[in-house]
Order: sequence, then structure tokens, then C-alpha cells
Amino acid sequence: MDNLLDDLRHIETLDKSCMLQILKRFPEDCRSAINRAKKVSLEGISGKRFTKIVFAGVGGSSIGGKLIIDWLWRECTVPMVLSRGYHLPAIVDDETLVFTVSYSGNTEETLSMLEEALNAGAPTITVTSGGAMSEIAVENGLPLISLPDGYRPRAAISHQFFSLATAMHELDLVGISWGEVPEALSTLEAIRDEISMDVPQEENLAKKVALRLLDKIPMVYGSSLLEGVAYRLRSQLNENSKVPSGSGSFPEAFHNAVLGSERDSEVLGNLALLLLRDPGDDEGVKRKIERFKELFTPKVGDIIEVEARGSGKLARILSLVYFGDYISTYLGLLYGHDPSSNVSIDKLKQV
Ligand code: F6R
Repeated sequence: MDNLLDDLRHIETLDKSCMLQILKRFPEDCRSAINRAKKVSLEGISGKRFTKIVFAGVGGSSIGGKLIIDWLWRECTVPMVLSRGYHLPAIVDDETLVFTVSYSGNTEETLSMLEEALNAGAPTITVTSGGAMSEIAVENGLPLISLPDGYRPRAAISHQFFSLATAMHELDLVGISWGEVPEALSTLEAIRDEISMDVPQEENLAKKVALRLLDKIPMVYGSSLLEGVAYRLRSQLNENSKVPSGSGSFPEAFHNAVLGSERDSEVLGNLALLLLRDPGDDEGVKRKIERFKELFTPKVGDIIEVEARGSGKLARILSLVYFGDYISTYLGLLYGHDPSSNVSIDKLKQV
């Protein structure tokens, strides 16, 4: 087990759908997503006035919208909402920009929200690799940003995120934050050189964290900017590593999750707290995180911290998404799983 993550031949046999190769081209995929989305005509949408923005999608296809909300929280003056079920919120009307996102294009919840967006006369942009969603987009003349084939939905996050971000930029909804994109991409390239599969365990932070998470239940926390990243990592631990996991955010967790520290070590010993640290956090949050750690330290199985990289918010967000995607993939491999397998999700989709 100790050197399994450095046994590249063994890893290749487990990683049947090449999750690690997809991760390795993450920075290039971000660039190609921007170029692809820029070519899509937004005729009929640009020039309209939007009073709200709704991102509609579920699972891996909902993450891009959540990351955008976190990224632009302090800059975008148009309210942004995430919709992750069968129904859009009642606020959707002909002044609401709706993005419907489904990698497969066949997810019933998202198709139901697309139908509601059409009924509400909402300007709607579809983001998909095909399926029923692309047919509906063509029939109704909706802008369609195509996601490339050959990915698990969760592994297409680079394409998904930058499809949404680029379309919003083209519609003048991103403002000066768009200037953060080059730094974010170069930060991802630098991280890749440190944590990709060919970097041996003793120098590879993602492999080291995966080893510490073995046989533990990870609870992931990050401050408000990283709420979506913490949720993404918890979902990736569920999907790539096939482990139960939870997530939360600071300062919110100081007002509820902290009480969990009052259980005894028999229960808490199974948990590993995985803290996503942002150097840009408010001083008050930083101080309280230290106290939060002290309260859990004697009882939990482990407390692991991973720090965001880069100076802009986008680099800080995407750097931790990238670390988390590698950590969860390595952990899945340590457990002997194909990180891309989806057996239980597929079972539920058939119900
Ligand atoms: C699978 C994954 C899932 C899907 C979800 C919705 O990799 O991440 O969470 O994203 O089941 O399916 P799509 O994305 O096709 O709408």
C-alpha cells in the first residue's frame, strides 16, 4: 500500500477511464473551454437587461455555477442563484439569465428546469455535450455551448466552469475579475508540476494527503470564498474515492459544526478534518479556525490543511479545486477503485 501511488503501471490498470490523464491537461482544457465558448453566438441574449442569474444543474454539473457565485460574490451586482432540483425558483422571468448545465444532456432534473425556463420566457443558455438538452436547444434556437465528449461529468469541470465564465464575460457580467484568468491558469500549471502522477509520493502533497485520508471519513471545510470548493471536494471524495464525506464553511461552522467537538474520540476518531486555507481570509476567521482546530485536535483522527495558491480569488479557488481533484483520485486508487466508476449513481438514475 505504501508505494502504490508511485506504481504507475498498477495505477494505469485501475484508472480505466484515464482520470489522471484528464487531470493532467486541466490547464489546457481551461484555455480550450474559453476559446470554444467565445465562438458561440449569444445573439438574442446579449443586449438584454438581466436582473438575476440562475445556474440550473445537478451533481458535477452544478459545481461550475457555485464556483462562479463564490468568485464573483463581492463584485457581481446581479443576484446569482444555484438551482439544483426539478424546479426553478419563482423569481425566474424574462429578465432572468438562466444557464442550464448537464454534461450528458439527459438528466431529468435539469431537463425539467430547462422546460420551466422556456415556459417563463427566460433568456437561456445551454451547456452540454449532447443528449436531449442539445436537441431542445436546437429546436428552440437557444445558444448551446458544447462540452467535449469523453469525460465523466465531474471531470469536465474545466470546460463547464469556463463555458459559464466566458459567456458571462461576453455579456459584461464578470467585470474586472476577468483579469484574474491568466494568473489562475499559470497557477494551475505550476501545481500540476508538483502533484501529477509522475511526481513521487515523498514530494507530492496530493498523494501525501490521500494517504492520510485512508480509512477516515473526511470532513472538508473552507472559508466563504471556498464554500463551493469544499463542497466540490466532498463530492469528489464521494464520487472518485467512494467514501462518505461532509463539507461546511467558515465562519458558519463556528456557529454549529463546532459543537460536534463535544462527542468523544470513539466517534470523532474516525474523522479527518480537511481544512482548505485561504491566505486572504479575514483575520477574525483565521483566529477562530485556530480555536476550532484546538477543540477538535485531541479527538479527531487527523487534521490536514491545504493552502490555496495565487493572489487573485480565481487562482485561490481553482488551485484548491485542482488539489482536491487529485487528492480524491489518488484516494480512490488507494482503495483499489477506478476513480471514474459511477455504479451507484447509475443505479439511482434508473429508478
Ligand atoms: C458524474 C457526476 C454526476 C453527474 C450528475 C448529473 O461524473 O459528476 O454528479 O454530474 O449525475 O449528470 P449530468 O452532469 O450528465 O447532468
